[in-house]
Amino acid sequence: MNKHFNDDGLDYRLFTPGPVEVPDWVLREMGMPNDTHRSIAYREMHAAIRKNMQKILHTKNDILLFTNSGSGIMEACVRNLLSEEDTGLFFSCGAFGDRWIKIAEMNGKKFDAVKVEYGEAITLEMVKAKLAEKKYPVVFITFNETSTGVLNPIDIIGPIVKEYGAILCVDCVSGMAGTLLKVDDWGIDVAVASVQKCFGIPPGLSLCSISQRALDKAKTVKNRGFYLDFLTIHKKGLKDEHPITPSIPQIRALMKVSAKIVEITPEKFAAQHTERTDLIRNWAISHGFEIFSPEGYHSQTVVAIKNNLNIDAAKFVSELFDRGYKIVNGYGSLKGKNFRMAPMGWVTAEDTEKMLKVASEVLEAIK
Ligand SMILES: Cc1ncc(COP(=O)(O)O)c(C=O)c1O
Repeated sequence: MNKHFNDDGLDYRLFTPGPVEVPDWVLREMGMPNDTHRSIAYREMHAAIRKNMQKILHTKNDILLFTNSGSGIMEACVRNLLSEEDTGLFFSCGAFGDRWIKIAEMNGKKFDAVKVEYGEAITLEMVKAKLAEKKYPVVFITFNETSTGVLNPIDIIGPIVKEYGAILCVDCVSGMAGTLLKVDDWGIDVAVASVQKCFGIPPGLSLCSISQRALDKAKTVKNRGFYLDFLTIHKKGLKDEHPITPSIPQIRALMKVSAKIVEITPEKFAAQHTERTDLIRNWAISHGFEIFSPEGYHSQTVVAIKNNLNIDAAKFVSELFDRGYKIVNGYGSLKGKNFRMAPMGWVTAEDTEKMLKVASEVLEAIK
């Protein structure tokens, strides 16, 4: 037996930016008996998710389910929406923005990229300036950049992209549900997420909302592939079915979780995330740290804390782990430059305060 496994699963708590802690009621739901994916029982689950997610995302657009993690839908956006002649426009402010560009490159697509320093945000002015240069059919951008804790202002960027007539794909993987998203008001054509983030479900399922405009565009694109074809998944989805064998336990969990978020209200569920990230930011500032993201662009689901005090970040993370809490160091090249705490999903403000109290003790001990 792994030394960290006990009868409750793990002997430490996760404040990681995904996968996140999965509550018992979600695990129990996943363990319930299931019929096949060609059954009435399955169709009822699928239908409930489509309805609940439309409420959570404030959209009339349809919801598609994918039995892969979020990167798969990022690839699906590139394959389904960029034809051979098209040049996609990508904005990146961190590791996940860069991933989308790499996906385009590896699929042989033409693209232009606007990149800012890690730790900065994509602003409305940047988007406006780039769109004014040339006509782009599709724009790709990150909502919540998990590597830097930056939240890009899609609420004001979306309407401008629409004004220029481009389709807007947004990576909402680590922001969806934990941050309020108004898909229709903001003009998002494809909003992508993975369930192992703010939904608090084990990995293996991802979802997106998709507009009719995006579906119409996909009809004009050749070589969309088989597994990630928006049109096949949408066509089957209209009957609350899936073209392939989906990850039924995760779908069952999403049915339960999405219903719970609707019951709490999407506004309150997101506000709970903000309350917890505010606690973390205040803790960091009170200990002399700076926040890695700029003022006005702070993520509501993950806090990247700048290591301006030059502590041994790896030691801090590992000693906090020994005391029962898992947080993470900076992502990739940001290792040591920042460390991240993410109270996503179902951890409470009280849990967060407890973790921060221990973090203060660990910090004192290693300084
Ligand atoms: C912002 C963002 N985009 C994309 C991804 C990739 O998602 P997945 O790991 O579900 O493929 C992640 C994962 O951490 C992420 O945080």
